[in-house]
Amino acid sequence: MNRNWLIGGLASFLLALAGVAFVQGGGGEGAAAEAGGDIVQPIQFPHNLHAGSGPEQANMDCMFCHFSAERSVDAGIPPVSSCWGCHQVVQGRNNPAEVARIGEYYQSGESIPWVRIYKIADHAHFPHMRHINAGLQCQECHGEVQEMGVLTERSPVWGGANMGWCVDCHRQPDEQGVQQASTDCAVCHY
Ligand code: HEC
Ligand code: HEC
Ligand code: HEC
Ligand code: HEC
Ligand code: HEC
Repeated sequence: MNRNWLIGGLASFLLALAGVAFVQGGGGEGAAAEAGGDIVQPIQFPHNLHAGSGPEQANMDCMFCHFSAERSVDAGIPPVSSCWGCHQVVQGRNNPAEVARIGEYYQSGESIPWVRIYKIADHAHFPHMRHINAGLQCQECHGEVQEMGVLTERSPVWGGANMGWCVDCHRQPDEQGVQQASTDCAVCHY
């Protein structure tokens, strides 16, 4: 590979990042507030009733709904048709009004406009499948989701908006005693 091209490319890349960081500095407070318990979802979807293993909890696998986590960059959010598969029958004992709204979205052909909770900046790249195939559990990065009701904020275990979190884990040795994942800039920024 051409070394000058590489160095030139890296310099302009860092300049571009500096620009990004500057722009983010202006809007950062709003984004943090959004992640700090203020999230209001269009349907009050309780994770524990679906993914928990307690009495009267459905004990569903995370990847039943987040179907692409092991083969794609995104974990994926299930379409309304997969909710409707159960909820045209299951009415909901405590909150039937929320369940009825699933039917309204389904019938109108609209997708449910879920508010995104976990997000890193566009200049960084996070591939779910590499992490799932390396044997990591969802809970290591998102907390004990199967015990949570409606998600209104990020779990404190998530450090994704802080590059040190990613790099610290990548530096950990694997069973052979070598660093378990790359810390090259270009692996996460491109
Ligand atoms: C019945 C389907 C279903 C199951 C099972 C399920 N989820 Fe979800 N999950 C959803 C839906 C719908 C959303 C979007 C609404 C929300 O954020 O609560 C979501 C949101 C999330 C988010 C936040 C995504 C974002 O916006 O950034 C995470 C993280 C998550 N789920 C992890 C898990 C984990 C871990 C499990 C297993 C313990 C799990 N989910 C099981 C349907 C499901
Ligand atoms: C495999 C079947 C299944 C799927 C798929 C499923 N659910 Fe559920 N859901 C249940 C069961 C079972 C309950 C518990 C019902 C109860 O306790 O009355 C429930 C409960 C709920 C509740 C709370 C109802 C209450 O009365 O407290 C909401 C809201 C809900 N689901 C929304 C969704 C949404 C949105 C999706 C799609 C992302 C979805 N569900 C997918 C089976 C399912
Ligand atoms: C090593 C940490 C890590 C693990 C393990 C992990 N996630 Fe994530 N997850 C993230 C990060 C970081 C983001 C934000 C990615 C972005 O903005 O591009 C995210 C975003 C998400 C989202 C938002 C929307 C999407 O489609 O990506 C969902 C849903 C989600 N994760 C579910 C899961 C589930 C389910 C598992 C387990 C099967 C899991 N995650 C495992 C770190 C992780
Ligand atoms: C393992 C993944 C990973 C590696 C390796 C990595 N970064 Fe990052 N970097 C990130 C993430 C994630 C963010 C934060 C994104 C956000 O704000 O959500 C980030 C943020 C940044 C920022 C913006 C300022 C800041 O701190 O938020 C700069 C500049 C940056 N990285 C440069 C670099 C350089 C230079 C290297 C190589 C020495 C590097 N990164 C290696 C993941 C990585
Ligand atoms: C808890 C540990 C852990 C955390 C946290 C983590 N990673 Fe990783 N990551 C891994 C492991 C292990 C691999 C190696 C998978 C393999 O060998 O295929 C990996 C692989 C990757 C790869 C593919 C590397 C390659 O060589 O192609 C990227 C890109 C990546 N991670 C980005 C991120 C970013 C961005 C973050 C933070 C938002 C992050 N990771 C947080 C453990 C982690």
